[in-house]
Amino acid sequence: MKTTAIAPSNIAFVKYWGKFDPDLRLPLNDSLSMNTDQAFTTTTVEFSKKYTADSVEIIFDGNLVPMAQKESQRVIAHIERIRQKTGCREFARIVTKNSFPMGVGVASSASGFAALTVAACGATGSVFSERELTVLARIGSGSACRSIPDGFVVWKSAATSEQSYAYSVFPQDHWNLVDTIVFVDTEEKKVSSSDGMEYVRSSPFWKARVEGVPSTIKKVMEALQKKDIDELGSLIESDAFSMHAVMMTQSPPVLYWSGATIRVFRAIWDARTQGIRAYCTVDAGANVHVICEEASSQQVVKICNTIEGVIKTVVCRPAPGAHIVDAHLF
Ligand code: PMV
Repeated sequence: MKTTAIAPSNIAFVKYWGKFDPDLRLPLNDSLSMNTDQAFTTTTVEFSKKYTADSVEIIFDGNLVPMAQKESQRVIAHIERIRQKTGCREFARIVTKNSFPMGVGVASSASGFAALTVAACGATGSVFSERELTVLARIGSGSACRSIPDGFVVWKSAATSEQSYAYSVFPQDHWNLVDTIVFVDTEEKKVSSSDGMEYVRSSPFWKARVEGVPSTIKKVMEALQKKDIDELGSLIESDAFSMHAVMMTQSPPVLYWSGATIRVFRAIWDARTQGIRAYCTVDAGANVHVICEEASSQQVVKICNTIEGVIKTVVCRPAPGAHIVDAHLF
């Protein structure tokens, strides 16, 4: 059977950095994110007797090419997990396409493993609840579980795999927030988030950050409920800096920012003194996400496009979660 799914990337407002169970990807803390409509992955999976091995291909600049070995092994391990869960015995062909470059701190593994999970589970013919899909996606790549439910999503930290799932807290049309992704670097990052977070406990600050997260999530939920951009923005900017402070103080240290990353922060802070209500956040990469309301979006894009080192800006709005579509990639 052949199934195609589209999954959005997501930008974390309260970040996940560190696992207490690396195999099951059980996180040290809860996290909260917004799905982004312009950064997404489309994946088609077909299980069939006609295949004699699993294959993973990616559509890159319009061409179909085999996926690099390290990534394709991770994809096949996930397919194997789904085969074991469903009893499916056939090999799979997997073809995938991103709307943005991979490995640049725009969560390609999040949208990638969310689309893969929904397409592969669908292609086995078995029926899964949304919660079960989030648990499966999480084992493929932690933040992928947040790309399955709609809109604004919380992922719970819990002691067992079944309890560490993601769920929607507000739908995508709750608030006209805009995430302007400011690309300053489109190269593959040198330290993957999985590798980087392995050493989280070597930072003297990780515990303080993890202890503070429940209160941050509570305040972010209130700011989302009230649609208070200044409150939300201050909280998410501060949470991003607290995560990067942990990264930078790990041993060995991880520093994802470039000079242009810092220039974007400064330009947005300057803009705030002029009354533009916009705030920065950064995942594991150099690219900045500027969060604002629709009313400030054009000014934000204009400012960002004049900063030295900015390659391009992509304007995203809140999106639904992963879903099955009719148009297959092969
Ligand atoms: O699940 P991963 O390996 O993509 O980790 C993502 C970690 C951050 O993007 C840095 C933070 C987050 O919560 O998305």
